[in-house]
Amino acid sequence: MKNTASTDSLAEKVRALVRPERFAHILRVAALAKEIAEKNGLDGERAYLAGLLHDAARDLPEEELLSLAPPENEVERAHPLSLHGRAARRLAEGWGVEDEEVLEAIEGHVYGVDPQNGIGMALYIADIAEPGRGVNGEIRELALAGRLSEAYRLAVANKVNYLQKKGVPIHPRTLAVYERLAHAP
Ligand SMILES: [Fe+2]
Repeated sequence: MKNTASTDSLAEKVRALVRPERFAHILRVAALAKEIAEKNGLDGERAYLAGLLHDAARDLPEEELLSLAPPENEVERAHPLSLHGRAARRLAEGWGVEDEEVLEAIEGHVYGVDPQNGIGMALYIADIAEPGRGVNGEIRELALAGRLSEAYRLAVANKVNYLQKKGVPIHPRTLAVYERLAHAP
């Protein structure tokens, strides 16, 4: 739970690694993740931290991504950019972040998080539905109305349907989350 680095110093570390437009996205995601968390009875500060860190590795050169987060399966080998979630987790660990739920949220923002991880669901939705993206307003509103699980189920189902329609191989973790949500009460 305890983090050794302050939020401000982490924000500066992230700002130094990403393009300015990315940092603007990151700040919008962090603010929305905090709001979603609070509307669902979760800790807004932890959600903000996850949002702040989630794309820290997104603008790194491919070699750095691969060395921080070596691919673990075919989908990852085919899409090195998708390793930026796990790579950001590694960066966060290196910066002293020890909150396991926050670390899982950061890693899982690309391929999905376990539905037990409320911070992770808040981050996942904030990332796909922050106002700058101009899409997924319905999912954002559901989450802000205190219906986080429902919003997450919809977000993951949309993603799986989209990839299936395109005939793109789906990451095993995404499929596992999708299955779990399909069988959730
Ligand atoms: Fe990302």
